[in-house]
Amino acid sequence: MKGKPVILPVHLTATYKFDKSDDLIDVVQTRSGYIYSRWDNPSVVEVENRLAAMEGYDKALGFGSGMAAITTAILANVKAGSRVIATQEVYGGTYEFLNDILPKLNIETVLVNCWKTQKIIEEIEKGLSILYLETPTNPLLRVADIKPLAQAAHEKGAIVMLDSTFASPINQHPIDLGVDIVIHSATKYLGGHHDITAGFVCCNHQHFDNIWTYRKILGGVMDPMSAFLALRGIQTLEIRIHRQNENAMKIAVFLDQHEKIKAVNYPGLTSHPDYEIAVRQMLGFGGMLSFEVNGDFNKTKHFMDELKVIKLATSLGGVTSLANQPITNTHAALSPENRAKAGISESLVRLSVGIEQVDLLIHDLKQALETV
Ligand SMILES: Cc1ncc(COP(=O)(O)O)c(C=O)c1O
Repeated sequence: MKGKPVILPVHLTATYKFDKSDDLIDVVQTRSGYIYSRWDNPSVVEVENRLAAMEGYDKALGFGSGMAAITTAILANVKAGSRVIATQEVYGGTYEFLNDILPKLNIETVLVNCWKTQKIIEEIEKGLSILYLETPTNPLLRVADIKPLAQAAHEKGAIVMLDSTFASPINQHPIDLGVDIVIHSATKYLGGHHDITAGFVCCNHQHFDNIWTYRKILGGVMDPMSAFLALRGIQTLEIRIHRQNENAMKIAVFLDQHEKIKAVNYPGLTSHPDYEIAVRQMLGFGGMLSFEVNGDFNKTKHFMDELKVIKLATSLGGVTSLANQPITNTHAALSPENRAKAGISESLVRLSVGIEQVDLLIHDLKQALETV
């Protein structure tokens, strides 16, 4: 029949059939085709190839979540006795993995604040296997200076990994900054519609087979339906991100001037401590910001409850604006002392700006602030 589908079918198959045993043997030995979907699946390969091209790396690997991508990529590159240096402000799940799980495997983890470039370099000089970065950070939007850190780590023969979820491939080009392995929680901007849990690793050929083997063994592979939705998301990524960048900047300026707001954390504001690094390193300031309401925990909770267009929810990066109080969810597990050290106050609100009309979002924030 003439005519082929514009949209590729979703390959909902766990396994693949062969006409001859020799063909199956060949695929098992050479990986020149499909054999079992925990190894590879055509729908997953399609989105992997698109993302790899977007990030500028040879290859990408799809995972069942951002955490599956992070843990698999790290485990594939450490052994007992390894030393991992990471930025302290990493995502909570990553922090637990680095801090609680790796030491059980006799792997040392050193955590340093992401803005202390010189201190991180001093630690790098003592030796390491992996430099693990995440920037911009959650929820204060601090920006680590990737290039000098990557350079110092490479001089020591280490692998540089970056969780670039908050920036997405549009606002940051890690390959140009010396990053070897880029990780995304595709649950966020890449999926973009709050309807999948997925992750990706992007890397060049030299790292691919090793991570592929660990993915096959640990089993955290992306499912074909998520691959289909991630591919659909990636097709609109650039226009969504541009809109989210624009909306977030306008909201940051509005909040910055509001009398009931104590502080705004957005790397696009000149008052942000890492503004200069962000200007140099990023192509857009992103759709994430956080701010402190002038009041205590209960006043802030009341403000949250009054939001009508912006939804009270965790997660981020989708078309719908979401807000939460880090103290009640993403950072609830931290002791009050560690929370204070991390700069997470009881009046802090994190906002993931969506693609709605910005006037609607500003109006929503304004009316909720009026009730505080
Ligand atoms: C920066 C960052 N990295 C990784 C993750 C983990 O991703 P997932 O929830 O898809 O496992 C998250 C989740 O919020 C995140 O914000």
